[in-house]
Amino acid sequence: MKLKPSKREQIFPLPVALISTVSGEGVRNIAPWSNVTPILRPLEEVMLASWIKRDTLTNIRETGEFVINIPPVGMEKAVMVCSRNYPPEVDEYEMAGLKARLSEVVRAPGIEGCLAWAECTLVEEVLREKFSLIIGKVVNLEVDENFFDEEGKMDFENAKPLSCILGATGLTFTYPKNTGISASYSEMFLKEKEASGPEP
Ligand SMILES: Cc1cc2nc3c(=O)[nH]c(=O)nc-3n(C[C@H](O)[C@H](O)[C@H](O)COP(=O)(O)O)c2cc1C
Repeated sequence: MKLKPSKREQIFPLPVALISTVSGEGVRNIAPWSNVTPILRPLEEVMLASWIKRDTLTNIRETGEFVINIPPVGMEKAVMVCSRNYPPEVDEYEMAGLKARLSEVVRAPGIEGCLAWAECTLVEEVLREKFSLIIGKVVNLEVDENFFDEEGKMDFENAKPLSCILGATGLTFTYPKNTGISASYSEMFLKEKEASGPEP
């Protein structure tokens, strides 16, 4: 079966992050974001894709800072409140009933009740006609120790970080589940004998 290329969002389960920023005038803003990804492992940069008409984008341009907050299952309603197109002078912490969490490095606060807080500074904006790609550097990363072990590994089945599947008229919230199979990165590298193929 073929789908229109524009339906490609159906084939990608995406994360749900909340991006918190402050405007140049100090108004606090939160917006849900799914087009957010780390740029290659183990580097420190992340990328957000943003429509041009976003207070989040304006605030990042004005202040050069943002926080990526990872909400757990249970925050869906607050996520949808933050997705409303409130004017820039509206404090979205107040609208969604969310509590600010002091950031260590950037001015923008994080959000209490989230699982992780990646404080970021703007590295580069790649501006296209209709959208912009924001590349940020993670300058401080904190996680809720109830759901992460000492090495920083997330107990994601208990943490339940929100993800979603986007559809034509709406989205469905999801969260990840272990398939029972784990693998080591060393499996990606062929041993010398395997690299040369079968014996003649
Ligand atoms: C789950 C979810 C994911 C979203 N992801 C994005 C995204 O990746 N990029 C984007 O520009 N807008 C995205 N949006 C829409 C913005 O969150 C929404 O337009 C919001 O009002 C923007 O707020 P702001 O103007 O305060 O930045 C998403 C909305 C939802 C509900």
